[in-house]
Amino acid sequence: MKSITVGITGASGSIYAQKLLAHLHKSPDVTRIDLVITKAGVRVVNEELGINVAGTEPRVVRELIGIDSDKILVHPAADIGASIASGSYISDAMVIVPCSMSSLACIATGIARDLVHRAADVMMKENRPLILVPRETPLHAIHLENMLKLAKMGVRIVPAMPSFYHFPQTIDDLVEHFTHRLLDHLGVAHEQKTRWEGSAKKMMNAER
Ligand SMILES: Cc1cc2nc3c(=O)[nH]c(=O)nc-3n(C[C@H](O)[C@H](O)[C@H](O)COP(=O)(O)O)c2cc1C
Repeated sequence: MKSITVGITGASGSIYAQKLLAHLHKSPDVTRIDLVITKAGVRVVNEELGINVAGTEPRVVRELIGIDSDKILVHPAADIGASIASGSYISDAMVIVPCSMSSLACIATGIARDLVHRAADVMMKENRPLILVPRETPLHAIHLENMLKLAKMGVRIVPAMPSFYHFPQTIDDLVEHFTHRLLDHLGVAHEQKTRWEGSAKKMMNAER
């Protein structure tokens, strides 16, 4: 039974957060999801998904995953006194998806300007799994240095890079495949139908 923290920041790729939350909500392994969305995250979600996720009321969860969820608790990004801001609160893993270069830089330098940064800082100090899904292109040296710094501390850098070896036909196929990788990192079981099983297996399937 897991308690997962999800941060959504103002990088492109809010569809990944939407898909991940839907999976976490459905998973019998997950009992609680603490969700924080930065101000820029609210803006980008609105630009990309056309929904309004400002505030913390149940409507925000409904907007994101289409249904109510008693597992998902939304915290204001400014609430640095929330449960997840303390190491005494047990969160089994945290993922920031998507993660802006700005939030990545704050986390890499220990600057906890909001609850997303503070919760990430807590995960690092408590030696708990922290997964960042950065999205930017191209990347300059400071972005790369920040990622290296975090990777050396054991933070998992899982860039939002879709793959094509599973022959995706739709955007949903791309998003679903990447979300399965995130669930793997979070240690949450799922039924992925597109795991790579080697080219020999692929050829066998093609011959059928
Ligand atoms: C539509 C839109 C898309 C953006 N995409 C990205 C992006 O892919 N990566 C990134 O680092 N910043 C991106 N930004 C800029 C960030 O939102 C901005 O740096 C913001 O200050 C990040 O704040 P936060 O880390 O508190 O969410 C985007 C902004 C907008 C409005």
